[in-house]
Amino acid sequence: MNVVKSLASFRSWRKSRSGRVVFVPTMGALHHGHAALIRSARTLAGRKGSVVVSVFVNPTQFGPKEDFSSYPRPWRQDAAVCRASGADAVFMPSADEMYFSDRSVSVEESLLSFSLCGRSRPGHFCGVCTVVAKLFLLVQPTHAIFGEKDWKQLAIIRRMVRDLNFPVDVRGHPTVRDPDGLAASSRNAFLTASERAQAPLLHASLQAAALKKSPAGIAAHAKYLLSQIPHARVDYVEAVDAESLQPLKTRKLPGRLAAAVFFGGARLIDNIPLPPLP
Ligand code: PAJ
Repeated sequence: MNVVKSLASFRSWRKSRSGRVVFVPTMGALHHGHAALIRSARTLAGRKGSVVVSVFVNPTQFGPKEDFSSYPRPWRQDAAVCRASGADAVFMPSADEMYFSDRSVSVEESLLSFSLCGRSRPGHFCGVCTVVAKLFLLVQPTHAIFGEKDWKQLAIIRRMVRDLNFPVDVRGHPTVRDPDGLAASSRNAFLTASERAQAPLLHASLQAAALKKSPAGIAAHAKYLLSQIPHARVDYVEAVDAESLQPLKTRKLPGRLAAAVFFGGARLIDNIPLPPLP
């Protein structure tokens, strides 16, 4: 496996590859959720294709009060996870090489970005779209895998790929969870022992609420259940259309029940499917 840091060396590594190139973009601090994405990229690439993982803590997607500087950067461990999961190359560019100090071009998705957590994280999805577009142009993947845990991110990337004609086949990967239901996340490391004990109630509350029939009833019940968790502060909880992310009005089309909840300083997100009802 190659660990490549500069843009020039990555470009020359990429030139040596043909066939499928399956790309898994990450910000590092890799856990078993990321590892599952890389293993599934390996399966999709086959023996003849290549798997590329990027590890880049992208400054432009963090708000001024968010955890950019404290975001964990265990780069040696990350390279070991990539190797063990079947990656052929890890691309770890520096922020200085990725961004000119006088940059003036960015990529903005202007509809889906302003639903759900876009309201509480202004600029976040512009940072995500910009860095993913740049990474797609550098890596030139045939396929890219994103986790369903970040459902909104996946929907926005699909929209960007559609609207800008990126020749990339975007695949979603189901959310990987700890045995107690908590979605794997690098932010789980910030939880105290008592917050960690309460955190699985996020997923359990969404599942219980999804048993109601109407979208409004589901969202209201989820809000109530989440408000009962002692260490939790609800940021948002909403039933939305799975593709447009607009509020779900009926159960005729696939929906998603999505929530963001603060446990102490850590903001955890989760979502589950709301399949159409017959
Ligand atoms: P990061 O949070 O490191 O996540 C990298 C990828 O792993 C994303 O596609 C995310 O959805 C997926 N992922 C994380 N936890 C997961 C879990 N428990 N189950 C399934 N998939 C999971 O998302 C980002 O980085 C960045 O925004 C990025 C796209 C790299 C752009 O900077």
